[in-house]
Amino acid sequence: MSESVLILGATSAIARATAAAFAARGKGLYLASRDLDELQRSAFDLHLRYGIEVRYGLFDAEATATHEAFFQAALEAMPDLSGVVLAFGYLGDQKAARDFSVGEKIIASNFTGAASILSHCANYFEPLKRGFIIGISSVAGDRGRQSNYVYGAAKGALSLYLQGLRNRLFASGVRVITVKPGFVDTAMTFGLPGLFLVASPQNIGERIVGALGKSADVVYLPWFWRHIMLVIQHIPETIFKRMKL
Ligand SMILES: NC(=O)c1ccc[n+]([C@@H]2O[C@H](COP(=O)([O-])OP(=O)(O)OC[C@H]3O[C@@H](n4cnc5c(N)ncnc54)[C@H](OP(=O)(O)O)[C@@H]3O)[C@@H](O)[C@H]2O)c1
Repeated sequence: MSESVLILGATSAIARATAAAFAARGKGLYLASRDLDELQRSAFDLHLRYGIEVRYGLFDAEATATHEAFFQAALEAMPDLSGVVLAFGYLGDQKAARDFSVGEKIIASNFTGAASILSHCANYFEPLKRGFIIGISSVAGDRGRQSNYVYGAAKGALSLYLQGLRNRLFASGVRVITVKPGFVDTAMTFGLPGLFLVASPQNIGERIVGALGKSADVVYLPWFWRHIMLVIQHIPETIFKRMKL
């Protein structure tokens, strides 16, 4: 197999669209998530539609002790791994997350698990002096808001982690791209109140792959979220804490 991409959290709507965009460009794929049946269906579908080689395997972001063995198995299945897309994430219920036993799962799914698996990916690519890591964070990580600060804190930590990793891997020629989507029409946001400017997963997936052909390190999707977040970040705290955001 040549030029393969590992998709972590491959059952996510954004990940599926990203996988299809890579497949359309002839890349082989390794799909990873907790749902093997769904992965098998996706792998079959992508192989049929694009004629590419697709492998799949079990991956649980929270089971950090399994990550090293998982990554080794993925490498054995596709020795010419060219990049990784980290797409898994868990929004959870912010009200319930006032109880730390709930909040802990949000932090583990979005940040601790990501830091764990990315450490293996980075240590693999660094000596090879090639490869890319695309981490899907969120605009929610740009400013703490009362409505989702546990998820936001985990995504903010992920954004910082990716920023530092990018600095570390720059000298090795390994590309690290941080993707910050706004609202996307997926299972994660289904039925949530107050959504606006909602993008389709297909649009986001295509642009995630397109980001590899451009120079930006941090990509807001769609682009206008960069401006929206700039405004939100600059609202003075004395005003912001009175807003019901
Ligand atoms: N939708 C949005 O508006 C939006 C906005 C900004 C950022 N994002 C981010 O974009 C990414 C994709 O989100 P989406 O909207 O496409 O979500 P989605 O369709 O709800 O999918 C979430 C994915 O994360 C996986 N996942 C959750 N916990 C996991 C764990 N412990 N181990 C492995 N996989 C786990 C789920 O796998 P299972 O099928 O096994 O549950 C699922 O594949 C996420 O990182 C999300 O935070 C989304």
